[in-house]
Amino acid sequence: MTEAILLVGGKGTRLRPLTVYTPKPMVRAAGVPFLTHQLARARAAGVEHIVLATSYLAEVFEPYFGDGSAMGLSIEYVTEEEPLGTGGAIRNAASRLRSGPDDPVLVFNGDILTGLDIRALVATHASTGADVTLHLTKVSDPRAYGLVPTDGTGRVLAFLEKPGTPEEIVTDQINAGAYVFRRSVIDTVPAGRPVSVERETFPELLASGAHLQGMVDSTYWLDLGTPAAFVRGSADLVLGRAPSPAVPGRCGDRLILPTATVAGDAKLAGGTVVGEGAFVAEGARIFGSAILPGAVIEPGAVITDSLIGTEARVGTRSVLTGTVIGDGAVIGPDNELRTGIRIWPHTHIPASAVRFSSDQ
Ligand code: GDD
Ligand code: MG
Repeated sequence: MTEAILLVGGKGTRLRPLTVYTPKPMVRAAGVPFLTHQLARARAAGVEHIVLATSYLAEVFEPYFGDGSAMGLSIEYVTEEEPLGTGGAIRNAASRLRSGPDDPVLVFNGDILTGLDIRALVATHASTGADVTLHLTKVSDPRAYGLVPTDGTGRVLAFLEKPGTPEEIVTDQINAGAYVFRRSVIDTVPAGRPVSVERETFPELLASGAHLQGMVDSTYWLDLGTPAAFVRGSADLVLGRAPSPAVPGRCGDRLILPTATVAGDAKLAGGTVVGEGAFVAEGARIFGSAILPGAVIEPGAVITDSLIGTEARVGTRSVLTGTVIGDGAVIGPDNELRTGIRIWPHTHIPASAVRFSSDQ
């Protein structure tokens, strides 16, 4: 049996001062909680048993995913009292693993949307006999990630988490947040205290001569750690650029969920999703955005690359570009909201209150 640990906890997730999504793994991307895509992709790759490692609000996951049988999975939940870090979370979740000491165990960061060939990662692990195999991807600016230089055979030479100086930027290959561990390697991680797999476990394994193997794969890859990335990821799922068996409908320019209402002359494109019970009025134009369930978009509103929270309302003729509108917030008519703005849940912005252009 192939099994996996999915990391969905941590300080960042709890403290991230946001708005429409707490906790983020349950925010809908292309119509279903984001986590569904990762679970479905793992299942499609032959994973049968998943341990969800969380450090906060575990009770939001279990009522939705239950024992996993609806997805053909067996899911268990492990909650840390205090966040144990990535390595500590993996160690803590290992108590639920069923694998033998030499078996491969998959580990996934819970905020990654990717087309990774999971079977190929496991096959690389088996054929190289590595202790840990890492999915690597190339990015133009690697500073926010773990840098992973490799030799000509793909063997990992170093692991440099979030390098602080230009000299440390030795490669554009980064840790893409999916690993295969030999089970017995997980058992060497210290238990009962916070451990960072990136800052502690990987460097120590390398120093002790362990074999860490990298598999560079240039498929679709996105860390959904910012609202802008989350919106992009949702749109790419709808468009079919990010492959997931869990998209509830055919991929295309738009996805309109059952019970949503969209006026005939409203224009939806660029991977826009309109959630259950949402309403899009006549003349609205929405591009590359996620309209969460029950939201109302009034006539003539223009929304681009934005996340509109559950039961939020966007007023007539308002123009929103790159925004995050919290659940239940009301944006009155004739506002202009631009990139980076986050409107807190249930806030009311009066008519014509925020503008960048003149009134004329
Ligand atoms: N259970 C649990 N407990 N999960 C945790 C904890 C914890 O204490 N800390 C972090 N996680 C989970 C997060 O929920 C997320 O799914 C994943 O581990 C990675 O944590 P992030 O906080 O998102 O890390 P990052 O994005 O800055 O960096 C990581 O991902 C990059 C790729 O996106 C690192 O693994 C980098 O090396 C990597 O390049
Ligand atoms: Mg992340």
